[in-house]
Amino acid sequence: MSLIEQLEAVLAEALATIPGAADAATVEALKVKYVGRRGAVSELMRGLGGLSAEERPVVGQTANRVKAEIDTALAAAADRLAASQAAALPPLDVTLPGRRRRLGHKHPISLVMDDAVAVLRRMGFIVAEGPEIETIWHNFDALNTPPDHPSREPKDTFYFPDGRILRTQTSPVQIRVMEKQQPPVRIVCPGRVYRRDTPDATHGMNFHQIEGLYVDRNVSLADLKGTLAAFAAEMLGPGTKIRFRPHFFPFTEPSVECDFSCIMCGGKGCRVCKHSGWLEIAGAGMVNPKVFKAVNYDPEIWTGYAFGMGIERIAMIRYAIPDIRFLYENDLRFLQQF
Ligand code: DAH
Repeated sequence: MSLIEQLEAVLAEALATIPGAADAATVEALKVKYVGRRGAVSELMRGLGGLSAEERPVVGQTANRVKAEIDTALAAAADRLAASQAAALPPLDVTLPGRRRRLGHKHPISLVMDDAVAVLRRMGFIVAEGPEIETIWHNFDALNTPPDHPSREPKDTFYFPDGRILRTQTSPVQIRVMEKQQPPVRIVCPGRVYRRDTPDATHGMNFHQIEGLYVDRNVSLADLKGTLAAFAAEMLGPGTKIRFRPHFFPFTEPSVECDFSCIMCGGKGCRVCKHSGWLEIAGAGMVNPKVFKAVNYDPEIWTGYAFGMGIERIAMIRYAIPDIRFLYENDLRFLQQF
């Protein structure tokens, strides 16, 4: 057989085999077999040297054509295999919902605080704010807290070297507003407060309060009760009831503690309300005439009520959070639930 006949035989065999290749590895192996550096075509080309000068270019041309046709067949086989592989994939479902982007949102403390402020604003209260670094006068003296009151001790209150303190309550904002403004006054004071408590499941060293103050002529305890009843229903649900228990605060007289009926058990008694059916939520009372005197209001003319409560406590009740520390750990697994 001449070299040309041998080349044509290789081509015929390659064209018969390649289209039947079942996978990419087979195509690759056939490529090596026919047109690789040690393949059939290259091997035949070694005999080129023994040919005459006239024969050589003719055989060379044939070899190039054979190689090109085999390459084309290999490429066609590779394309066919790639296409069938794509067809085997599950079809793209363009109706599937997209990937949801995670949006940030408000912290549970902010959710409760914003709600509480919104409820009181709807009742006509105006937001007032005061400094977190407070004078002893505003935080204690003007609020009729006696000089030897235990809450003033450095064990309970953070003192600065200059004698100022981190406020222990939002009540000093009442004083700051009344110092500047004549009655009637109807304010709500949201804010952060600080106490030197050892952190545990229900205590933190700083937490949030919301304070209300209403001063006008002929304000009564019944007005306070109506306001807190409406507030309770808006914050914890329409069925929520309230009750007053006598208490003592230096800045109010009389003073009460206000309980909300337990939202967990509806007042029947459960673990959350310690089987009493009630949750202690707010301190409140009628503004003590001594407080009015401290801000130069005439107690013969003006009357008022005040109340204050902890935001974390309401958040824990509303969302059934068992430990106040969850609110400050910034664990996304916790925060994502709100
Ligand atoms: N300041 C009190 C506290 O931190 C709460 C409070 C009680 C505020 C009675 C008031 C009030 O305005 O009238 O425990």
